[in-house]
Amino acid sequence: MVTSVFLHYVFNFLFSLHCVKSADTKYMETSIRNYFSNTRHHDPEYQEYKYAAKEYIHGEFLRHGLTTEYHTFQEQSVSNTENFQSVIGIAKGTNFGKANDLIIGLGAHYDTVKETKGVDDNGAGVAAMLEVVRQLTDRNRNGVKRKNTMIFVAFDLKEYGSCFGTSDCKLPDVQLAGSRHFLKEWLLPWLLSNYGKAVPAVIHGVIILDTVMNYNTSARSQTIPDAFRTAFPETYASVDSDNFQGDFLNLIYRKPTNDTYLAAEFLSSGRDLGKPKYEIESLPLNFVKFSEIPSSDEKNILINFMRSDHGNFWEIDLPAIWLTDSADFRGDMIQCYHQECDNLQVM
Ligand SMILES: *[C@@H]1O[C@H](CO)[C@@H](O)[C@H](O)[C@H]1NC(C)=O
Ligand SMILES: *[C@@H]1O[C@H](CO)[C@@H](O)[C@H](O)[C@H]1NC(C)=O
Repeated sequence: MVTSVFLHYVFNFLFSLHCVKSADTKYMETSIRNYFSNTRHHDPEYQEYKYAAKEYIHGEFLRHGLTTEYHTFQEQSVSNTENFQSVIGIAKGTNFGKANDLIIGLGAHYDTVKETKGVDDNGAGVAAMLEVVRQLTDRNRNGVKRKNTMIFVAFDLKEYGSCFGTSDCKLPDVQLAGSRHFLKEWLLPWLLSNYGKAVPAVIHGVIILDTVMNYNTSARSQTIPDAFRTAFPETYASVDSDNFQGDFLNLIYRKPTNDTYLAAEFLSSGRDLGKPKYEIESLPLNFVKFSEIPSSDEKNILINFMRSDHGNFWEIDLPAIWLTDSADFRGDMIQCYHQECDNLQVM
């Protein structure tokens, strides 16, 4: 199962070790089969399954000893009455509450659009996050104490607009509600009360896992829009030299910001693994805030890179990277993205 491959990178990065325990693929598979293989949209007909997924994440965070809570919020553009809930788990390091803490966040949305079963998008990301939690807390139990604090979040209500490719799509305003509310209503107040400052100097960065399971070694399974060819000549050449195989993880970050630290650390961890079969391709973007890009032509291209929760972190200038298999640009997901066939068959 491919999720495990991507997990190696995450583990290696988080633990800064050269020797990484392999992932428990059974655990990830069971998570996906039981809780992330059917629609998790907010319409009433999907509510039961969605709630079960949310409660499972909450239970797993608790079981692994994280300080766990729901972040309950409302989103007026969806409903005036309904409550939505992201799930938050905190692994306090010995630096917790101190000015020298360097917090790493790991986030993945657990909801889906109506039309899909959401296995790759994004059961895979949540299952991977839970496996990171499991390994991390296992190590804690064995006496390895992390210095720095980690925050894990399974976001609700990422997927409720469907405006991609239309001119009235004003990302991130029209989507990504869970992470937007989380930042304003949970993270900034939480930093203030635990670290005494609203300025998030203690945040080292946030890793967003969204749509990470599709791995395809067929030639030409990876499509790349023409516009990306000029924007990322090196990456394009690298994928080209590999016959456009969809067999790599995309690392998306903003070059002129502190995302670059996180991206470089992640890349070097990947290299240290010495598994050339699993490549990482970098997509360094040349902006700081999407909302401040002057040209709408440029925005139309770059909007593809704003499609997950890291977009909200970027808009308030917090370092974040997005790891993804590129979703509808690769293999079967070209047809299955946000469709019925993003189901258990993609495992
Ligand atoms: C980027 O990181 C450096 C070094 O950690 C820090 O001094 C600086 O304030 C950060 N910049 C921003 C915009 O957060
Ligand atoms: C891989 O990609 C090819 C070409 O897009 C597609 O025909 C095939 O079904 C894909 N295989 C998998 C396992 O995704």
